[in-house]
Amino acid sequence: MSQEDVTGHFAARSATYDRSSSWCTDSELGRLVLQLTQPQPTDRVLDVACGTGLVSRLFSGRVAEVTGVDITTEMAEQAQPHLDRLVIAPAEALPFPDDTFDVVVCRQGIQFMELPDAVASMVRVLKPGGRIVLVNLCAYGPQDRDEYFEVLRLRNPVRRHFFLPQDLEALLSNVGCAEVELHRYVSVEDVDVWSDNGAIEETRREAIREVYRNASEDFLSLHAVKESAGGFVDRMLFVAAAGRKP
Ligand SMILES: C[S@@+](CC[C@H](N)C(=O)[O-])C[C@H]1O[C@@H](n2cnc3c(N)ncnc32)[C@H](O)[C@@H]1O
Repeated sequence: MSQEDVTGHFAARSATYDRSSSWCTDSELGRLVLQLTQPQPTDRVLDVACGTGLVSRLFSGRVAEVTGVDITTEMAEQAQPHLDRLVIAPAEALPFPDDTFDVVVCRQGIQFMELPDAVASMVRVLKPGGRIVLVNLCAYGPQDRDEYFEVLRLRNPVRRHFFLPQDLEALLSNVGCAEVELHRYVSVEDVDVWSDNGAIEETRREAIREVYRNASEDFLSLHAVKESAGGFVDRMLFVAAAGRKP
């Protein structure tokens, strides 16, 4: 998957991105990000894959400085009002000196990145003692993994990685983070609204419905899938992995 594939996908989604999932603007998920990052008034915060700035705005006004970094200009220019500084650059090669930020956060970004390089780059720019939080949709476990990864692949063809909760823990631990902990958050998504992301064809949306129609008992039970008006409602699992740079 090239960087152009990713930027092309998100440029197509940029106008409607904020409405594309209920989790985008979910204030409870936002509160979890703040609880785990514990922003202080003197902190310098880096929001990696900042997109339209939905995470950046949580920190705006609470900390000394918020920097956003992303590769898709059409997404990132919407973040500008919530940022002190916007940088268009890939997470794998963050253009900041070592030990710059007190907090690094990345929500729903690492699935598009070269790993573990991108996470190592985030930790490099974090100050010793600084906090890092990765927030991502995950399968609940081996029982729903194959079906859920298929749904995620259909919904976003530029996705490179799919995660189980322990994968996020390993990503932080393997690049030297300490005190790594995982927190779970369940987001209730209307699948038809969620799949209408402005960047995939109707055939893919129908293929997603087909996965739900034929889903295994394990999948239906773990995701507590409900049928609604001919569509499906899914309880999707977010995992927030928090760690500290020693
Ligand atoms: C699903 S959006 C998440 C936006 C935001 N973090 C949020 O939670 O709403 C993914 C974003 O990751 C960005 N992205 C993808 N690959 C990237 C990379 N290698 N470096 C920096 N940003 C990247 C995309 O351009 C897009 O804006």
